[in-house]
Amino acid sequence: MNNHNDLNINNKYKVLFVCLGNICRSPAAHGLMEHFVEQQGLQHFIEVDSAGTYGGHAGDLPDPRMRRAAAGRGYQLTHRARRFREEDYYNFDKIIVMDDMNYEDVSRLAPERKYLDKLHRFVEFCTQHPDRSYVPDPYYEGREGFELVLDMLEDGCQGIIRALNDE
Ligand code: 4NP
Repeated sequence: MNNHNDLNINNKYKVLFVCLGNICRSPAAHGLMEHFVEQQGLQHFIEVDSAGTYGGHAGDLPDPRMRRAAAGRGYQLTHRARRFREEDYYNFDKIIVMDDMNYEDVSRLAPERKYLDKLHRFVEFCTQHPDRSYVPDPYYEGREGFELVLDMLEDGCQGIIRALNDE
């Protein structure tokens, strides 16, 4: 877990999840990742946060449908939504987006081209969803949309921890 970013002074490897609203997919990824990090005793090495490219839900808890679905699997989601900002490129080692629109929006805010090396699609870390090229937005979906997102997030978060262990 090499530290190669600019302002990361507490020596932890910092991972930021990004989606559109920061009330469904990315705060769920954030909560699951923290759960796995603690479960595996890695809390002194890995720090997690999440943000949205759209700021309209800033300050909100995750969507109640996502909180309910996550609680059904034993994960408590308590993050308050915030908007992604350019400084996040300096503060985080990996910035992991859920879909192509997030990728476009976040890449447009990169201070310099080299910072795009920090940017990843979440599906890169999934091993059990080879047919998926992005994490679908569940906002206008029913319960099964939220369950699919959680399946993908459980898969990919474990993949991220494996990838960090190999760095
Ligand atoms: P998220 O889902 O990007 O996974 O948090 C959405 C939340 C809110 C909206 C869209 C997507 N919205 O349009 O308000």
